[in-house]
Amino acid sequence: MIRDGWSRRLLEIQPFHVMEVINAVKRLEAQGRHIIRLEVGEPDFPTPPAVLAAAHHSLDLDQTRYTAAMGIIELRQAVAQWYQRQYRVTIDPTRVVITPGTSGAFLLAFGILLDRGDRVAISDPGYPCYPNMIRLLGGEPVSIAVGPEHAYQLSPELLQPVMDQGLKAALVTSPSNPTGTLIPDAAMAEVIAMVERHGGRVISDEIYHGVTYERPARTALEFSQEAIVINGFSKFFAMTGWRLGWMIVPPSAMRHVESLQQNLFISAPTLSQYAAMAAFQCEDFLRQQILTFDHNRLFLVEALRRFGFEIPVMPTGAFYVYADASRVLARTGHADTRSFCADLLESNGVAVTPGLDFGQYKAQQHLRFSFATSMENVREGVRLLGIFRGDPPPLQAS
Ligand SMILES: Cc1ncc(COP(=O)(O)O)c(C=O)c1O
Repeated sequence: MIRDGWSRRLLEIQPFHVMEVINAVKRLEAQGRHIIRLEVGEPDFPTPPAVLAAAHHSLDLDQTRYTAAMGIIELRQAVAQWYQRQYRVTIDPTRVVITPGTSGAFLLAFGILLDRGDRVAISDPGYPCYPNMIRLLGGEPVSIAVGPEHAYQLSPELLQPVMDQGLKAALVTSPSNPTGTLIPDAAMAEVIAMVERHGGRVISDEIYHGVTYERPARTALEFSQEAIVINGFSKFFAMTGWRLGWMIVPPSAMRHVESLQQNLFISAPTLSQYAAMAAFQCEDFLRQQILTFDHNRLFLVEALRRFGFEIPVMPTGAFYVYADASRVLARTGHADTRSFCADLLESNGVAVTPGLDFGQYKAQQHLRFSFATSMENVREGVRLLGIFRGDPPPLQAS
């Protein structure tokens, strides 16, 4: 039912369920409660000091007007150099588009790709904004259930059945939100080859690149120059609020992206673009922070497994653990992870995200824990979770 004259399209757009958790967190904090926040999807360390200094300098120069739609050329060049350095991939800087966050890049990517009814394969579980943006632009998300046997990633076998009905694009997110898993290199190569053979295109969300623990992630550009690659400054560079991302597009898409960007955003935030120039020089500082996350990851996975959560695939990227809580729910008497999350927060002050936010497939029995926080917070969260479950005191610091 459409009420008050708002668009019918809105019926298809889902709000984030985690907002319920966040609203409850705010209410409890307003009452003076201390909440351990393992639900948020952003690093809690500060913007690198060199980036702040570059921003101050830019303000002193009053660099506050619109930039060219595709972004300032110096930043586009810096992104191209980053690809040379990180992946040994040569790209022309003119193929780099600077966007308002990767969220802006997704709107542009779907905008240049999709006609009404065009199908885009996405994984379930997956990042919740994809299907909403695809629908907003008239496309049709095709959710593919991915389990631990495929490392929670799309694979050629899983794509084959939907391929025959036509697919405009397939979206790969590696490392994944919510599972923290990487797509195996061979699967990435085959998925890209298969989709392109059928006349489609792969969009590769590489926002968690750099946040990897066992091996670096490979860019889709190592496998095809026709892929659309999306990345940004929110995760590895810890710059969520600066709202800055980038997209690398094939030459045939350049003028279409430019025209869409002019119409939708004019340009990405100017101050952020100048500040981000310094971000690529902060690699050592940033890698130090990732080491903390790695300790958190090992500690949290071990503790959760001891508590009866199932984590069949070790997360090796991003800062999430996607845990099957079936055995724990049976013990605590909760019907699903949504009620589990609500009670855990209310009674023990730990916020985590219910699986419902990431799709339908076994969502009610899964939880996402974020460990993008201090070690103390993760340890305290684990202690409180143990008490909630009725366990003896959990692990001591190793
Ligand atoms: C997989 C994934 N893609 C994209 C984004 C959006 O990031 P931003 O718009 O801050 O660049 C997020 C944010 O959490 C994410 O998890």
